[in-house]
Amino acid sequence: MAKIKAGVATSHVPAIGAAIDNGITDNEYWKPLFEGYDYAKEWIKEQKPDVVLLVYNDHATAFDSNLVPTFAIATGEEFKPADEGWGPRPVPNVKGYPEFASHIAQSVIQDDFDLTVVNTLDVDHGLTVPLSLMFGQPENWPCKVIPIAVNVVLYPTPSGQRCYNLGKALRKAVESFDEDLNVQIWGTGGMSHQLQGPRAGLINKEFDNAFLDDIVDDAENLALKPHLEYINLAGSEGIELIMWLVMRGALNDEVELKKRHYHVPASNTAVGHLVLENK
Ligand code: DHB
Ligand code: FE
Repeated sequence: MAKIKAGVATSHVPAIGAAIDNGITDNEYWKPLFEGYDYAKEWIKEQKPDVVLLVYNDHATAFDSNLVPTFAIATGEEFKPADEGWGPRPVPNVKGYPEFASHIAQSVIQDDFDLTVVNTLDVDHGLTVPLSLMFGQPENWPCKVIPIAVNVVLYPTPSGQRCYNLGKALRKAVESFDEDLNVQIWGTGGMSHQLQGPRAGLINKEFDNAFLDDIVDDAENLALKPHLEYINLAGSEGIELIMWLVMRGALNDEVELKKRHYHVPASNTAVGHLVLENK
């Protein structure tokens, strides 16, 4: 049986990808941020996941105002890094897992979550930056990846509760796949940030740290947080944090916290990172 053994949460700021690609992770600005990922990079070498369900959002790269899937699952064989204006990142193509992704789509859709099924998808920084943070710069990514996209860019976005429940449906789907697979689920995006308007640059450390507490130990209540609260307190792009609830919903009620990291700033955001294992 396939089983979700662990969850990872991490921000996905494009400038983090640029720092890795340009070899400047050791400078004064970036060093403290990257040091916070040293634990996870060693941990994942031991964990050796076969597959990562990578919950992320596309930033008007593959989807735009012409097509706005609330939730999408990518069932293709391979996904290319997207050109977001500076050329594609120099990272490997992402290998998908069509049989498993199709099984998950079947299970989750029959479980009343209307996922959009995507076969061809170029993946942007939302997906590739977390892979770089966790795996560094390998020639090939060491595991398969099933992209699960959540709309947090164009309103209306799904509620936190809906995201949390989607995590539970994903878990059921994984556990009904008849292959012995070590599966992880990653939630990306956040933490507090706002890229636009008079409040551009907003960071709210108090909000972020309470979120980091609650996502580990009080996720049922955290899932009730209304989207306006994210926007008011964590900035317009702070809404990305609802994707962490998909990850958390797919784990056990009780999890073991292996790593917590919080750092300000990275570009315009507060960076948060968690490693959680199912007890
Ligand atoms: C930034 C952060 C994001 O989450 C994103 O998707 C794009 C840009 C930033 O801080 O620059
Ligand atoms: Fe983002």
